[in-house]
Parts: sequence; structure tokens; C-alpha cells
Amino acid sequence: MAQTGTTPCSVYVFDAYGTLFDVHSAVRQHADRIGDQASRLSEIWRAKQLEYSWTRSLMERYQDFWSLTEQALDFAFDKVPDVDRSVRAELLDAYQSLSAYAEVRQVLEGLKARGVQVAILSNGSPAMLESAVAGNDLGDLFDAVLSVDPIRTFKTSKQAYDLVTTTFRCFPETVSFQSSNRWDIAGASAYGFRCIWINRAGEPDEYRDLAPVGQLKDLKGLLNF
Ligand code: LAC
Repeated sequence: MAQTGTTPCSVYVFDAYGTLFDVHSAVRQHADRIGDQASRLSEIWRAKQLEYSWTRSLMERYQDFWSLTEQALDFAFDKVPDVDRSVRAELLDAYQSLSAYAEVRQVLEGLKARGVQVAILSNGSPAMLESAVAGNDLGDLFDAVLSVDPIRTFKTSKQAYDLVTTTFRCFPETVSFQSSNRWDIAGASAYGFRCIWINRAGEPDEYRDLAPVGQLKDLKGLLNF
């Protein structure tokens, strides 16, 4: 079991989108209809979805993550007008069952075999998360699937990370938090979790004052941490 100083980690918590599930698999599934602007459309879609979560948390005008996902897609279509909008419904359907990364089941089973608890903490609405977990047949692996929706604010609000310590009745330093989103790692690090950045896209580091204890290119190395 991983150590943080003298405290073993008893709970492993995962961000959902980008960490367990590939947000770009929705557009990739329909790339033939979208054409050569497919990657640009998907990048703008993701960037706007996240921007809306941060701004709405700051201004305290919450809308659920599915609404933000739809609005972000519509912005992306406006930004990339050559793309045929008739694919909108299929893209949103595909977003409901994004592909899990290949190593997810094996790594989470390995953690469960060590007797730790495993959870998701996500901006996703409960329905989004239920659909993504069920769509990848991962329901047996999680002790909890935590959506920020009940608290009506998004990560990196402290209240979002409180959902973990409240649910598991644990201290922050006993939680190992994994996310592909460096901003999420910064927020979780500020909160006091032991953080591992799953840097799938090979991004440069940032938020230097709020550093993870380690960085991996996918989840495979997690069992050795
Ligand atoms: C989530 C997004 C932010 O799952 O990746 O919370």
C-alpha cells in the first residue's frame, strides 16, 4: 500500500473524464462524418466544458455537467462551422458511454486485491457517471461513485474534495488521488490528498507550488507507487 510519509493510503480516488474515460473517444467514433476538423472540434469541446465548470463555480451559477457538455459542444460547432451539425445527437450519445482506457480494469482490480477502497470523484452528473461506468462494465470495482452535483459546485472547490473525506470518514493524507487534469491535481494537492498526475497527453508541468508526489503516463505504474 502506498505511503504518504507515515500514513498508508487506504482510499484510491479517480477523476473520471480524461483519467478513466477517454473524452475524445466520442468524436473519434464519428470522425468519418466530422472530417479533418475532428480533433480540433473535440479539443474545443473539452476546453469549453471545463471553462464553464470553473466560471460557474466562481460566479455561483451552477448548471450540471451534462448541460455544460451540451453547451460546450454547441460552442465547438460554432467555432468549427464546416462540421456537419447533424452529428450532434450521435456525439452526445457517444459521450454517455465514453471508452474506458485499456488498463483501467486491471489496475483497479489490482488495487482492490490489496484491500484498499476505490472511488470516482467527478464533475459528471450522477446519470453521466452511471452510464459511463455501466457502459464499460466497471460497476463491480467502485466502493463509491461521487458526483459533485449534490453540492452544486465543481472541482477545484474544497467542498468537492470534502465529498471523499466525508464519504470514507478519512483524513486527506490517507487518500491517493489520480487525475489526468493538472488543474485537478493542483486542487486535490491543495486540499491535502496524496496526488499522482496521470499525464496521458504528455503536457508540460504547471502549478509548481501544488505538486503531485509523482507522474505517470497511464495508470499501469500506479500499483508500484
Ligand atoms: C471530471 C472531469 C473534470 O471527471 O474530468 O471531473
